[in-house]
This record gives sequence, structure tokens and C-alpha cells, in this order.
Amino acid sequence: FMESLSLSFHNHTLIITINRPDKLNALNKTVIKELSGVIDDVYNNVEIKSVIITGSGAKAFVAGADISEFAGLDAKAGKAMAENGQMQVFNKIEHCFKPVIAAVNGFALGGGCELAMACHFRVASSNAKFGQPEVNLGLIPGYGGTQRLTQLIGKGRAMELLMTGSMIDANTALQYGLVNYVVPQEELMSKTLSVTELINTKAPLAIAGCIKAANAVFDENENGYEMEINIFGELFDTADAKEGATAFLEKRQPLFKGC
Ligand code: COA
Repeated sequence: FMESLSLSFHNHTLIITINRPDKLNALNKTVIKELSGVIDDVYNNVEIKSVIITGSGAKAFVAGADISEFAGLDAKAGKAMAENGQMQVFNKIEHCFKPVIAAVNGFALGGGCELAMACHFRVASSNAKFGQPEVNLGLIPGYGGTQRLTQLIGKGRAMELLMTGSMIDANTALQYGLVNYVVPQEELMSKTLSVTELINTKAPLAIAGCIKAANAVFDENENGYEMEINIFGELFDTADAKEGATAFLEKRQPLFKGC
């Protein structure tokens, strides 16, 4: 049982819903802890091929870190909060070897925008709004927002959003490349599922390779081109690569097994 998340399965896609609608799904300690545990399960559970993260209700994806927990934090505690969140949740999502997609159903502010950005890509409903309003609280983002927003939309746009704390609407987010699609709210889950279902038919080790190599672009300790060469080569030793080529030549759909 979890206090703040609800889980559901759609074929091999796990849908994680952050479920504190009366607080606009704000990320408190419990949400962070439960998300961390669920993501560990995603890594370990072979039944799960892909993940969708969304928020409960029609209004918010996640309206940020829970501001009521900020009272009484000092420098040491603030640093520990950011570090714990980054290590236990945001980095684990970004580096998950299975696709994790955000279905942004409303406000994605502060930690909510950061959660959406830690996912591999994003689908938004037309009422979604994005922003990093931490400056309004005398703070900066702590769950990777300064980095991932700059990676995703470029330095000039990110600097303006970070410094003004302003929100952008879904269509602006689409134009900035922050989201891949904008759809009516009632179609958000079916659209997102249609993308994960398509990915679920591909070879899991190849999907893992795509994620790892694309993430290497943003990791100064990795040579992404070298990594690509290595993963490309290693995949030739998998049963799925043999199945893929065989199926193509036999003019049939491949059936991938994840090995
Ligand atoms: N932390 C804690 N509680 C939050 C929250 C957050 N980040 N965001 C919203 N809530 C709570 C509100 O306090 C309110 O609780 P209450 O009903 O017990 O008073 C409830 O969620 C509904 O929010 P409310 O502000 O009444 O809705 P609204 O429609 O007037 O405004 C927002 C919506 C998103 C504009 C507004 O809630 C907001 O600015 N939230 C904070 C966003 C933020 O700064 N996030 C970054 C944190 S680092």
C-alpha cells in the first residue's frame, strides 16, 4: 500500500499516478520515498516494459515540492533534500533503462516541471502549464531544473524562465521542444499509451541502448560516440538482433524477447 501514489498496469506499461490532488500533487517526503521505491521496482520487474508518470485530477501534474515542508530547513537540510531527491528519484528516472514518459495533465511547476523533465520525453494536455517559480520563494530549483531545462529548451529561454519564475502554456512548451505533443486532456492517457505501446514492441535491449547513448550527450564523463559504437556492436550478440534481421528477411513482424 502506498499513501501518495497509485499504480495501474496497461499491458506492459506501468502508470504511476501521484495522488495528492487536494495539494495539487505536491512532492512531499512521502511522495519522494514512494517514487524511489517504485522506480526500483521498475528496474527489477521484468513484466514492466515502460512507465508513464502522471498526476491525479484535472488540474495539476505536480505543483512543485511541498512548500509546507520548507519551514525550518537550513542550508544543510536544504542541500540534503535536493541531493536525496536527485539521487533517489530524478537521476534514477533519467537513467532508467526502460522508457519513462511524463503525461503532463496540468500544472508542472518547480519539482513538477523537474519531474517531467527527468522523464525521457513528455506529452502534455492542452491545459498544462510549466514553470520554475522557485525565485518567488527566494530559491532556485533543486531537483535538476537548472540543468535539464537548459538542456531541453536552450540557455536563453531557460534563463528567462528561471529568473522570472513565469509559467508557459502547453503550446509554448511544444514550440520550445519541452513536450512532444499537446492533446485534449481526455486524450492524454490514450495518446501517451499509444507511444509506449509502440515502444513496447521493440527490442528492450535496443531501447535501453537508445536511452543510455542519448543520455551520454549530457554527461561530460562519457564519450557518446564511443558508447554508441560499443552498444551497437554488443547488440549484434543478442538473440533479438538476430530475430530482427530474420523477421525482416522473412517479411514478418519480429517477436523480441529481451535477450
Ligand atoms: N506545496 C504545498 N502545497 C501546495 C503547493 C505546493 N507546491 N501547490 C499547491 N498547494 C496546495 C495549496 O496550498 C492549496 O492547499 P489548501 O487547499 O490546503 O490551501 C491547494 O494545494 C490548492 O492550491 P491553490 O493555490 O489553492 O490553487 P490555485 O488554483 O489558486 O493555484 C497554483 C494553483 C499552482 C498557481 C498555486 O497552487 C501555486 O502557485 N503553487 C505553488 C507553486 C510553486 O511555487 N511551486 C514550486 C515549489 S518549489
